[in-house]
Amino acid sequence: DSVIHLGLAGLGTVGSGLIKIIQENNDWIERRLGKTLKVKTIMVRDLDKSRNVIPSPDTTFTTSMDDLINDPKIDIIVELAGGIEFPRTLITRALGSGKSVVTANKALLAEHGPELFELAASKNLGLYYEASVAGGIPIIQTLKESLAGNRIKALTGILNGTANFIMSEMSEKGEDFATVLGKAQAKGYAEADPTLDVEGIDAAHKLVILIRLAYGQDYPMSKLTVEGISKVEQFDIILAKEFGYRLKLLAQVRDKSGMLHAGVYPALLRQDHILAKVDGPFNSILLEGNAVGPVMLYGQGAGDLPTGSAVLADILALARTNCVPNNTGFLETRLPQAQILAPEL
Ligand code: NDP
Ligand code: HSE
Repeated sequence: DSVIHLGLAGLGTVGSGLIKIIQENNDWIERRLGKTLKVKTIMVRDLDKSRNVIPSPDTTFTTSMDDLINDPKIDIIVELAGGIEFPRTLITRALGSGKSVVTANKALLAEHGPELFELAASKNLGLYYEASVAGGIPIIQTLKESLAGNRIKALTGILNGTANFIMSEMSEKGEDFATVLGKAQAKGYAEADPTLDVEGIDAAHKLVILIRLAYGQDYPMSKLTVEGISKVEQFDIILAKEFGYRLKLLAQVRDKSGMLHAGVYPALLRQDHILAKVDGPFNSILLEGNAVGPVMLYGQGAGDLPTGSAVLADILALARTNCVPNNTGFLETRLPQAQILAPEL
């Protein structure tokens, strides 16, 4: 078929970003893909809410999951609703009915990834998730494909745009925590429950996903050392700066002779450290492969267009292969539990 029909769950920050990019880049997408993307149905919670994007007039809105799952014309389900139980049911049913899935939901994949990836692999369907870690930065593809031949010695990331934005603004503008958190929410960077951002849980979800790809092991959330930025005060930031350091919320994993040591914590970086310059909603990942050496990725880690860009990349990747993945479950299924080192003091 020359039309790929999408069923979208969620038209908030990321869903709207995706629609905007599809509309803006329509001609380019058609030329590259040789096919047309059509958003057939959008599922939301509230049909009466005013929307800041206008999908095409023949797009149907619904509040019923059945309208996505049971529509034989829909080729790909795009889950951009967030939460755990709703998307878990949606994705399980979508895969069960033969539809590949694209999601940005790191919380779901961190908590229930293995069962969902197994299901996708068993059905020879795709479950793609580039947008789930670091917004627009192509870190999933990088680990899954480009660096697949490397042993990753260590990976350090600034993986939460909201936390990084809060600390950058507190440092540069002297604004207080609550004010800057409000700004991050208004810009669409924060999770629906911003505790996930400020307590380091969102960064931990992302780290679990990256560890699976980098080490082929499942590192349970419960075993991660996680500390957020809620206890960081203006004074800490100012003092750090005065002594030539920057406070950053880091997510880190290191391979120590096959044992993994991983955690999320605020850390002091010397101001000449390459990650110290990553400010605002930007994210970065610095990793060390045993063959490639150091690799660093940098870009916008949150927000409508950067995240929509990653979601669209997954949709296009599926569309190119007629909605059947070309490497089902590679690196994501049948993972042993990680061999974990006790946290370092
Ligand atoms: P928003 O809260 O802005 O939007 C959520 C959308 O999903 C809304 O349109 C909402 O409907 C709909 N929705 C939520 N629950 C349900 C439900 N049970 N049934 C039907 N529709 C539902 O979220 P975001 O766009 O910010 O985030 C979406 C996902 O992307 C999350 O998993 C998030 O973690 C992830 N993500 C977000 C990024 C960002 O920068 N914001 C970046 C990377 C990933 P309604 O509009 O009617 O309320
Ligand atoms: N709330 C997340 C963040 C969105 O601030 O990084 C991107 O995953």
